Order: sequence, then structure tokens, then C-alpha cells
Amino acid sequence: MMNKTTLVQHLQHQEKKFLGATGEFTSMMNEIVVAAKIISLEVNKAGIGGHILGVTGNVNVHGEEVQKLDEFANSTFLNILSKSGTVCAITSEEMADPVIIPKENTGKYIFMMDPLDGSSNIDVNVSIGTIFSIYRKKSAGDSVSDEDLLQKGEDQVAGGYIIYGSSTMFIYSSGSGVHGFTLDPALGEFFLSHPDLKIPTHGNTYSVNEGNVCFWEDRQINLVNYFKEVDEKTNRPYRGRYIGSMVSDFHRTLLKGGIFMYPIDKKNPKGKLRFAFEAGPMAFIVENAGGRASTGKERILDIIPSDIHQCVPLYIGSRFDVETAEGFLKD
Ligand code: AHG
Ligand code: MN
Ligand code: MN
Repeated sequence: MMNKTTLVQHLQHQEKKFLGATGEFTSMMNEIVVAAKIISLEVNKAGIGGHILGVTGNVNVHGEEVQKLDEFANSTFLNILSKSGTVCAITSEEMADPVIIPKENTGKYIFMMDPLDGSSNIDVNVSIGTIFSIYRKKSAGDSVSDEDLLQKGEDQVAGGYIIYGSSTMFIYSSGSGVHGFTLDPALGEFFLSHPDLKIPTHGNTYSVNEGNVCFWEDRQINLVNYFKEVDEKTNRPYRGRYIGSMVSDFHRTLLKGGIFMYPIDKKNPKGKLRFAFEAGPMAFIVENAGGRASTGKERILDIIPSDIHQCVPLYIGSRFDVETAEGFLKD
């Protein structure tokens, strides 16, 4: 007997209970789910026919090579969300400027995305994902202003990600817990598989691109050396795990505990990960799961960005581990 909760049922319930039931939130999330299913199918097919793997030859606003699947994912979300009648603006890691939705199709939400995270891993069949963040339009009137596009992380209505891995999963939080759904590929339906996820308070894994050690500050080096020391009481030495696809590294951290870091370094003096598209939504999720997210000096969700593409250093994961990092990084 089938007795599973679908993602749509869950969204409707959450909207009624916590967000005030107008249906617009569920409707927008539904459109995100449609886009996610299309991308999941395309990612699973990548390699067949050879038309979707590889680079486009363009470079995005962050100076990164744009993969064909980056572009595919970006335009899929853009096309679907802009016709949904639920959003007034869309920003993306892959678009220099926000897209403002014309009056006839506008809605009350702002949608921000990293359409494909970890895209340099596409060609080697490693899990990749989509990260999204949702805010409510704050300003009065029809136009969309900086007041809407540059909101404090804490003011997110929802944050989530889809991971295209050994299975496709949809994880989201609208401020009352973090919930995970797994796609049944035969039915094309997401079912609740991980209700009310909680991150362990203390992990035993650190995740960072240690190849950058020559570009790090001393305090970052000291922190990683600390994780490698032997001390039974604090689970050390920690295991090292780094995929290079934030969605995957974060997903493991959420389920198993530990810390994921992308520190400042000489190449990226402000950090590499984007506040709006990566750090902010993952911080919203981790806090709703009982964890912590910090720049090392400041809580991520306290940040009010000054630019839609602003980058920040990121320390995210189990509360104990992020607090340990903050202890090493403070001035
Ligand atoms: P994106 O594919 O969206 O550009 O993001 C890549 C990000 C993130 O997924 C990952 O954690 C990080 O960049 C990896 O960077 P390094 O290769 O510098 O470690
Ligand atoms: Mn990314
Ligand atoms: Mn990306």
C-alpha cells in the first residue's frame, strides 16, 4: 500500500501552517520542481549524443567558464519561473543583471539561483546541483529595487537545493525545519524521504580545497592543522572530504555532520562563494537544521549584501565545528 507524502502535499501543508495560505508559495515551488525534473533528466542523459557536455566558450560575471549545462539549467529555470506569475525578479550566478518580470506575469517573490553548482564536475559524472533562495518583495509599487534584491540573509522565505546524484533529491526549508524528498524516476514524483533533518552538533569531517594552502592566511592553516591533530575527546583527527561541488559537500555535511569551508585566500580575498546563490541559502538550511554558518567572523544570515554577486568566506556545518573555526579566525 502506497502511503508516502509527495512534495506538493508537504508544501501545501507547510504553507497553510506557517506562511499564511494564499497558494502562491506552493505554486512557485511547484514550478521549481518542474524545472528540477527537467534538469535531472538532462543531467542523467549527459554524455549520450554528446551535445550537452562541455563548455559554451563564454565566461560568466565571476570569470568562470560557462558549461552548456549551466546555460541549459539557467534558461530552464528562467523560462519556467518567469511565466509562473509568482515572481517579480530573478537573479542568477550566470546572469550579470537581474531579470525583472513584466507586469502581466509578476508575483510577490524574488527568486535567486545558482542554476548548476559544481558544474566543473559535470564531465566526470560527480553529483552536481541547483541552489535557490527566495525572498518576498519588500518595496511598495510595481518596480523592483535594491530593497528587494539586497535583503538580509535572515529574511529569506525559503532556501533549498536539488542534488542530481545517485538519486535526485530536493531539500528545502521555509523556516520550520529542513525536509528532504527523493525523486522516484519512474513516477516523476518527489516523495518525502528525510523529514525534519537535523545536523549532528559535532562532526568528524572537514571539507576544504587544501590545494590552496599556499594562498591561505596563517589562522586558516592553524585551523586545518588543529583538525588533523590527535585528540580522542574531540573526535580528532577529522577525516578530510572534498568533492569540489558545494551542493555535494554540503549535503554530506548536513547528513553526517562536520564542517565545509571556503576561506578567503590570496586568489579570492573576499572568498569565492556567492552570498545570494550559495552561502545564503545553505546558511538558511543549516540553521534550520540546528547547525551554524559563518564568515569566520560574522553570522552569514546577518549579512545585508551590497551587490547581487557579492562573495563571502564560508564556514558551515555542525555548530561545534563552526564555533571551533570561529575561535581560530577571530581578530
Ligand atoms: P559553480 O560550479 O556554481 O561555479 O560553483 C563552484 C563552487 C562550489 O561548488 C565549490 O565548492 C567550489 O566552487 C569549488 O571551488 P574550487 O575548485 O576552487 O575548490
Ligand atoms: Mn556554485
Ligand atoms: Mn553554478
